[in-house]
Amino acid sequence: MIGKFTTNKTAELTIDGKTFSLPIIEGTEGERAIDIRHLRKETGHITLDSGFMNTGSCASEITYLEGAKGILNYRGYAIDDLAENCSFVEVAYLLLHGHLPTSEEYSHFSNLLGRFALIHEDMIHFFDHFPPNTAPMAILSSMVNSLSNFYPEMTENPMEDIDIMATRLISKVRTIAAFTFKKSKGSPLVYPRHDLSYCANFLNMMFDSPVKPYTINDDVVAALNKILILHADHEQNCSTSAVRLVGSARVNLYASISAGISALWGPLHGGANQAVVEMLEDIYASDGDYQTYIDRAKDPNDPFRLVGFGHRVYKSHDPRSRIIKKACDEVLVALKVSDPLLDIAKELEEVALNDEFFIERNLYPNVDFYSGIIYRAIGIPNNMFTVMFALGRLPGWIAHWKEMWDDPDWRIGRPRQIYVGPKHRPFIPQEERDKESR
Ligand code: SDX
Repeated sequence: MIGKFTTNKTAELTIDGKTFSLPIIEGTEGERAIDIRHLRKETGHITLDSGFMNTGSCASEITYLEGAKGILNYRGYAIDDLAENCSFVEVAYLLLHGHLPTSEEYSHFSNLLGRFALIHEDMIHFFDHFPPNTAPMAILSSMVNSLSNFYPEMTENPMEDIDIMATRLISKVRTIAAFTFKKSKGSPLVYPRHDLSYCANFLNMMFDSPVKPYTINDDVVAALNKILILHADHEQNCSTSAVRLVGSARVNLYASISAGISALWGPLHGGANQAVVEMLEDIYASDGDYQTYIDRAKDPNDPFRLVGFGHRVYKSHDPRSRIIKKACDEVLVALKVSDPLLDIAKELEEVALNDEFFIERNLYPNVDFYSGIIYRAIGIPNNMFTVMFALGRLPGWIAHWKEMWDDPDWRIGRPRQIYVGPKHRPFIPQEERDKESR
């Protein structure tokens, strides 16, 4: 795929008096890269780029981010348009197929989601054997990994039908998430229903009860669709890169997605949405003293970071954060609830955005800053917030996994390194080592 984006421009690299011409690649939105795929063979040198701040891992047709302007497009469509006009299922289809579905394609995709909503009854016993208070992300990554044993056909011929492969996972992860929540409370499981939409089904599985039927609120369903759309993909972030790297060894989809779930769990990544609400709860408990947290975030000797702020790519507003902030207000009004944490979050944002430290470092609220407040308003507990992120990100992970499998340039991911350990030294037998240590 990369080849068709090579320009007639080159970058000249001179090493020890010898000059090498490296091709320049230009993407459809004008991003440019120096193609170093033959660098080591031609120059004997590799590049070094910890955290891959300057390194592209692939060419992709799925998502475009422009960090300075805060642009996020899925398959060319602006995130604002998709969040405003689509359901999460439509956007999942778009990410997987590259086009928005016709009504016939949409109904086929939705029917598959309904067909695959149950998990094998044997899997339900797994819940009984995790220790109490097991982290939901640990349960999710374990359960997803085990799916390859319940559906072995998916490993033999994974490209058989992307719709079957994707909807089976997108639907079952929703059920596993809801069952995890019910089991954590010792409540009876609520099974998926064939007559409910994707998000309404999830909410019903989470909150319905034999003794207190759950009333599905259309505003909450709309907000959940929007928030899952906002999380659905984000190009080569940490967890998507994990899915691609694990998948590049030609391991099955379920094991690759399980790796993505594990990466997303990190507090610097998807785990931030839970950490944000815990930070806001702490501020609330200290009578709203957010200044202490701002001061700590600015203190070079304090490892504390203002969670929900900053981003590797966005050096201006994260477009998702603005949409979620607006949805927060809408959901709280629809549910007739107020949340003091939202007021604290808004004050914190206001102060930080006017503070030189944050301005100089282009630190703005990211997708995680407000998302937890919506989840709280819906009734989702803190320890399920990152599971919600995984539910949203799943179509993006699958789309990237499939794109990698289909990519003619695909290679197993195997980065190099610069060795800085001891030079070669002779072996010392145990008795010599003991003598030396005396
Ligand atoms: C997600 O990649 C993606 O696309 C991720 C994501 C997605 O959709 O997949 O968008 C989802 O993970 C959002 C990010 C959620 N994480 C957090 O909110 C945790 C808090 N934020 C950070 O730790 C941090 O901003 C990162 C991890 C998000 C980005 O880190 P970078 O790009 O490696 O930035 P950096 O560590 O080089 O920081 C640059 C400077 C440093 O100060 P100096 O050393 O220059 O003095 O900014 C400072 C950092 O100390 N800084 C912060 C800060 N984030 C960066 N200082 C205080 N609070 C913060 N939140």
